[in-house]
Amino acid sequence: MPLHYVSLFIGQLHLEFDQVDSTNKKAFELLKSGDLPDGTCLSAQFQTDGKGQIGRYWHSKFSENLLTSLLLKPHFLAFDEHYFLSICSALSIRKLLSRYIFNKNIYIKWPNDIYVENNKICGILIQNQLSTKKIKQSVVGIGLNVNQYDFPQQLPNPTSIYLESSKNIPTDQVLNQLFDDFEYYYLQLRNGRLNELKSEYLEHLYRRNVLSRYRDGNKRLFEGTILGIDSQGKLHMDVEGESRFFDFREIETIL
Ligand code: BTN
Repeated sequence: MPLHYVSLFIGQLHLEFDQVDSTNKKAFELLKSGDLPDGTCLSAQFQTDGKGQIGRYWHSKFSENLLTSLLLKPHFLAFDEHYFLSICSALSIRKLLSRYIFNKNIYIKWPNDIYVENNKICGILIQNQLSTKKIKQSVVGIGLNVNQYDFPQQLPNPTSIYLESSKNIPTDQVLNQLFDDFEYYYLQLRNGRLNELKSEYLEHLYRRNVLSRYRDGNKRLFEGTILGIDSQGKLHMDVEGESRFFDFREIETIL
């Protein structure tokens, strides 16, 4: 019988809302009025002001997808290791998706978008609360497209579990599986298995070792090959025989 890991602390406290501005914002608001346990989950059916990366809006129709924030206290991580939270979040969502989507590649697009082939199925926004050179708490915001099948035209390449598998899955079932998969990877991190996490991440990195086109922070187009990440989590590329390292916002993929 296959072993099934069931979470012990991720999602044990689950605060559910019909509508909020943003689950990440709500998590920080609640933290102002009191402490919440490690692993607390906030979820909503709809966000009026969903936050994406680089100040973008995160779109999601009412009740069709997962809109979730997990509150974590990764006190065991050194400050310069905090990008491992991103690695661990991306790996857990990739694992979760592999339970529903078969015969298609599920990639992690650096640093933590999840793609099915060339389409984005999930975005992650991690916001940290710092206290003198330490991460006090982190809010890992996850927008995972589950049952939505039509998206606004302006979104470049959205997809969902339904579009990739023709299966309609109750969002609470996906969320419960997320708790289990997230906790598995988070415990790997807590147990210091950084090398193992990094190599699993690299195994699934989108366009790794594939010559592709990119745009840099000065809007210049160039061709390069992703080799991996460096010890600070920056993207390591080969560009015409030279190693270059990019921070988030310094590089954009041409789809
Ligand atoms: C991205 O731009 O790729 C990141 C998107 C993150 C969206 C999620 S939805 C739940 C949580 N609350 C937010 O306001 N944003 C994150």
